[in-house]
Amino acid sequence: MNRIQGKYTFSMIKPDAVQANYIGAILSMIEKAGFSIDAITMLQLTPIVAEHFYAVHSDRPFYKALCAFIASAPVVAMVLQKKNAVADLRRLMGATNPTEAADGTIRKIFATSIDYNAIHGSDSDEAAALESSFFFPGRDLLLKKTSTI
Ligand code: GTP
Ligand code: MG
Repeated sequence: MNRIQGKYTFSMIKPDAVQANYIGAILSMIEKAGFSIDAITMLQLTPIVAEHFYAVHSDRPFYKALCAFIASAPVVAMVLQKKNAVADLRRLMGATNPTEAADGTIRKIFATSIDYNAIHGSDSDEAAALESSFFFPGRDLLLKKTSTI
């Protein structure tokens, strides 16, 4: 039994990477980097959920296109567990703009532009908790149940 205990982050493989059949390769990089996949599902965001998810960017000029893109096709949503999960996943993802992403990062390898950048990762523990509970509403209950076993 080698599942990693630690803190959580929330991640999504974005529509561009799902459409390009990169799910397996990206999950493999995530697991090889030491994360445990704690919950996972494939779903397509509705436009309203997309607008809610990226509400923090609602004043930015790219907001409309960003929401349309994230709702354009299925995503793989997941909760990942690791020590320093939020920061370590952001490092593994690489910079928002793949032209600035470090070699060996997910965005350097799989993203094609700042708009189509392959993966999302929460930017704080608070965002990770909010995003995880939004996409996996029963998860807290399940954790409480299994933690007594
Ligand atoms: P996410 O994991 O998707 O949240 O990316 P991020 O945390 O690296 O970036 P951020 O939250 O600042 O922005 C959300 C998304 O908006 C990014 O993934 C980009 O696709 C898009 N975005 C951010 N800044 C810009 C920008 O200056 N121009 C354009 N065209 N898109 C941007
Ligand atoms: Mg972000």
